[in-house]
Amino acid sequence: MNKSTRRQFLQTTTLAAATVAVPYVVAQESKGANDRIGIGFIGTGGRCGEHISIINELKKQGITEPVAVCDIYRPRLIAASKRTGDSKMYDKHEELLQDKNVDVVCIASPDHHHAQQSIDAINAGKDVFCEKPLTHWSQFELAKKIENVAKEKNKLVQVGTQHMADDNYPKIRQLIKDGIIGKPVHVECGYFRRGDWGERMNIPDPNAKPGPDLNWERFLGDAAKTDFSVSRFFQWRLYWDYAGGPATDLLVHTYTPVFCVLGLDFPLRVLGGGGTFQYNREVPDQCNIIADYNNGPSVVMTNSLSNHVDKETVIRGTDGIIKWGMLQGSRADYDKGVRIVPFAKGKEEIKFKWAGNGDTKKLWKNLLECVKTRQEPMCPISLAVRVQAPLSMGILAHRENKVATFNFEKQSIELH
Ligand SMILES: NC(=O)c1ccc[n+]([C@@H]2O[C@H](COP(=O)([O-])OP(=O)(O)OC[C@H]3O[C@@H](n4cnc5c(N)ncnc54)[C@H](O)[C@@H]3O)[C@@H](O)[C@H]2O)c1
Repeated sequence: MNKSTRRQFLQTTTLAAATVAVPYVVAQESKGANDRIGIGFIGTGGRCGEHISIINELKKQGITEPVAVCDIYRPRLIAASKRTGDSKMYDKHEELLQDKNVDVVCIASPDHHHAQQSIDAINAGKDVFCEKPLTHWSQFELAKKIENVAKEKNKLVQVGTQHMADDNYPKIRQLIKDGIIGKPVHVECGYFRRGDWGERMNIPDPNAKPGPDLNWERFLGDAAKTDFSVSRFFQWRLYWDYAGGPATDLLVHTYTPVFCVLGLDFPLRVLGGGGTFQYNREVPDQCNIIADYNNGPSVVMTNSLSNHVDKETVIRGTDGIIKWGMLQGSRADYDKGVRIVPFAKGKEEIKFKWAGNGDTKKLWKNLLECVKTRQEPMCPISLAVRVQAPLSMGILAHRENKVATFNFEKQSIELH
């Protein structure tokens, strides 16, 4: 671990902060039923393009008004402003947050900015749509801080893990609660892909350099001070300082639904394996995490970026098994739908279609409704913090060649 990230980790892991797993209803004056919700975008690169398309579409339905954009790279800032009806441009997120027309901010900057920008947004009185992962892998304490600040200020945070908009979870969760597979004791989930966005990230201008149109200091934020390189700037996913590799980029997508249907909390112990065996990158291109929960289950998350042959999600219970595939993987597995096979004699197999395919628009619509009703959104901060824990712990364990445990009294990660 480099000096600054190690320092960050040691500082943050010694701080204890109270977290509460129960969902909460946010008590606050509601936005009027006919008011358009003003959206400000922070980080206007690749992913933001989809958010802008969604908000522009919802604008036509009278629901939203894109009002401001912020980026530290001017060509993208200008392009995003044009796409949002010449919306106001800011090169510092703190200034966008002072804009009274912004009700909700969409944070789609690189991972290492999510936490601080979310906290700043909440403190400025905004509700937040924050892209996954909730935070950079080294910032677990900041993840808890977002939850605490959101609760304190009565603000909403929807985390952009779009498969949480799929429709099956309440049904599966209820069946598990009713004991259809007995006690869930073992889980396998994974994400497999050939090649990765890291290498594929476009370098639109190989001659780009820091200056009035590119603020390298602001790109770095709290990350280690490093000389500029076009690769670090445009292909930040390849580097530990800004990204966590497959754990926080991809496994977060398949693990969040599992976490949701099982209603888990923080894990007891996490092991992290993997390595960089194919691509020219700092972060791993193969990643395996084992997370053991108190009294079960033991969860095995697997990933390879060398081979796309997929694995279904499997939840094994003492009395049965649940399987499903998601569409980012094999079409054949997805088409098989959800299969629940109880072992008890006379109990029939239950099958139903997987409903949904990671619809980001649905996640947005849900948040925008919650802005008015002040209900908790579909992928709330309380869940995202607890999903972030085993991912951060797996990365730390792998990097440090140690085992990560969770100290429930201090609510912090420890390495042994
Ligand atoms: N949910 C999904 O399926 C999904 C898909 C892609 C990306 N993402 C997430 O979205 C985020 C962005 O990914 P991307 O692929 O769009 O990256 P990107 O590099 O294309 O875009 C990031 C943008 O943030 C800007 N930026 C950097 N530092 C900033 C700062 N301090 N203030 C304001 N802007 C800043 C960059 O200039 C860039 O334009 C990542 O966290 C990623 O994990 C999620």
